[in-house]
Amino acid sequence: MSKYHFLKVEKIVRETPDSISVHFEQPANQRISYKSGQFLTLLVPVNGKTERRSYSMCSSPISENNLVVTVKRVEGGKVSNFLNDQLKPGALVEVMEPMGTFTIEPNADKQRHIILIGAGSGITPLMSIAKTILHTESRSRVSVLYGNRNEQSIIFKEELASLTQKFAGRLDVIHVLSQPASSWTGHIGRLNQSLVLKMLEHLPKWADTEYFICGPDGMMEEAKQALRILQIPSERVHSESFLTVTKEPVHGEVVEDTTGEVKDYTVTIMYEGAEYKVAVPAQKTILEAALDNDIDLPYSCQSGMCTACMGKCVSGKVLLDEEDGLSETEIKQGYILTCVGHPLTSDVVIEID
Ligand code: FES
Repeated sequence: MSKYHFLKVEKIVRETPDSISVHFEQPANQRISYKSGQFLTLLVPVNGKTERRSYSMCSSPISENNLVVTVKRVEGGKVSNFLNDQLKPGALVEVMEPMGTFTIEPNADKQRHIILIGAGSGITPLMSIAKTILHTESRSRVSVLYGNRNEQSIIFKEELASLTQKFAGRLDVIHVLSQPASSWTGHIGRLNQSLVLKMLEHLPKWADTEYFICGPDGMMEEAKQALRILQIPSERVHSESFLTVTKEPVHGEVVEDTTGEVKDYTVTIMYEGAEYKVAVPAQKTILEAALDNDIDLPYSCQSGMCTACMGKCVSGKVLLDEEDGLSETEIKQGYILTCVGHPLTSDVVIEID
């Protein structure tokens, strides 16, 4: 199946003054399957250059037909501002296959408590997870701890309220605002460690509980620290960094390590049945060198987060500037990210699916 599709915009819903949800129609002849929590990478032509940006889907593959991404305006962001200001229903947008490992497998037999902790547009993948669990697992419950600046900045405010009514007794949404109006009667503050601990204290305690965290890095670290204090096993805690690219993707520092030297090497890349020899200069990543040679490898964030550029190193040694996008097991199995990868030996061979 092709990694790229053109999707038609069915409608655009303004969620808050600075965010929209873009509803894409499923292609009639080739339905795109995805998991709750995954993201779509959009290829958007802005000022004559195609920009790639990844946006989490808020739609549920179980309860909705459309694929829906939510785009929050980023100050100075070329793509988020373009989409917020200029995208219109009927437009065709090129997208890559859905990707991402911040997902949940629904299971109708399960009886569990899913606790979702998010701030700002970090709610987007959590919304998809919430809807999927509520529609699939009739004995499970979902609690959402959701931080925002004020009431106007709450994305999905009405939809969350109507889901809370529809799934009464199985869905709790607890808002916390850092700069609320004086009429606000809910929690006030930032979703930091102490507030997360306080809010969790009031939730029902179920033996089978899973935590999903998405938002700005600082908030995620505070929430994870709270869960460490509660000695929640790490395999029950899932998190996704807030993938907002605010600047042009930049090249990371080339990190020297003690086991090899980063210098110019030629790398062999096996991709879609072809074999390419790519000269990779020391100051470039494998992906940059391949793109310079017009080899159209898959990629998205260019910062080692999204795994769109993942390949397997089947020979030689590769140094990664950034390893966070891969699990320890994947690294042990030889998986690499070409966007942050540099060859350390002359015999590097990379296979890309
Ligand atoms: S392009 Fe996103 S991890 Fe490499």
